[in-house]
Amino acid sequence: EDDTLNQWYNGHILAAKLYHHILTATEEGKAAREYLRERGFTKEAIDKFQIGYAPNSWDFLTNFLQKRNLPLSEMVDCGLLSVREFDQKPFDRFRDRIMFPIWNKQGKIIAFGGRILKEGNPKYLNSPESGVFNKSETLYYIHEARKSIRKKNEAVLFEGYVDVIAAWRAGIDNGVATLGTALTEGQAKMLRRNTDQVILCYDSDNAGQNATFKNAQILEGTGIRVKVAKLPDGMDPDDYIQKNGVERFSQDIIGQSLTLMGFKFQYFRRGKNLQDEGQRLDYIQRILQEISKLKHAVERDHYLRQLSEEFSLSLEALKQEQVQIYKSQS
Ligand code: GTP
Ligand code: MN
Ligand code: MN
Ligand code: MN
Ligand code: MN
Repeated sequence: EDDTLNQWYNGHILAAKLYHHILTATEEGKAAREYLRERGFTKEAIDKFQIGYAPNSWDFLTNFLQKRNLPLSEMVDCGLLSVREFDQKPFDRFRDRIMFPIWNKQGKIIAFGGRILKEGNPKYLNSPESGVFNKSETLYYIHEARKSIRKKNEAVLFEGYVDVIAAWRAGIDNGVATLGTALTEGQAKMLRRNTDQVILCYDSDNAGQNATFKNAQILEGTGIRVKVAKLPDGMDPDDYIQKNGVERFSQDIIGQSLTLMGFKFQYFRRGKNLQDEGQRLDYIQRILQEISKLKHAVERDHYLRQLSEEFSLSLEALKQEQVQIYKSQS
């Protein structure tokens, strides 16, 4: 039992070291180094996050692990290797990909994410779930970010490792990521154990913004106060940093995070033409519903005023409308 686990962990440690070596110190890794350089990955970031490169080979890692006397059947079970259908022969799962080690909260490598260098499918290949890797319980980089999260009493939540790494270059060392847009109760609780506040910084595309809305509720459900770092439409944190630099990201995006209600004001506006009376009324109704959910009277009052000013409506009318919402809910 214990032996098996140790073999799994050792396999991942060895693979990460090997991939990192190939990336940083060999001719084979040159194209990958060039790719990362063009994307703005610094030497410091490549070392800090143990980024690597899996060469374009079917048996490179397989042979290496075999020489190190790691049972290949175990290396298959932990997801480092795949097996050929017809004779169950193991082969390298990751080929010609940039490799990102994924750690558990104790800092042990439990999986990899591999990005294809050029265009192609799938763009990201993650390790399969295993006895040690459960995607929906993993928060990328929590093992290192935890200290800073506690100190700042704030975490920044991203969609992917590339965004965590880009933000780290901007001095944001309290960033962690879900592996994609889904956030589970378990991940939210893991954050809650370390902080009172989370800044959501997902991609500014439909998937990212819908997930922001949804995940904000999950986080709030655990008692976390949520803020939202809003990027220009269509961008993700890494895109933004590449275009505008690290200072502007930390100052204008993270530093100017919206309150959750501020985000909702924008979110429900998307795709709506507020010049159109019907759509405008829908929007106001939707925002009123959100205001009604707020716990504190002072907050409700604040946003009712904002709404009344923006649409030149009397505060009285808005309050009456809210009474209707409460009635219909009870
Ligand atoms: P880049 O082009 O490298 O900047 O990627 P992206 O920003 O377009 O990635 P995207 O926003 O689509 O995805 C964010 C995160 O979701 C990634 O870091 C992965 O963890 C996960 N993800 C994205 N695409 C895939 C995929 O095809 N398969 C898997 N397993 N995960 C994915
Ligand atoms: Mn190094
Ligand atoms: Mn996206
Ligand atoms: Mn993205
Ligand atoms: Mn991206």
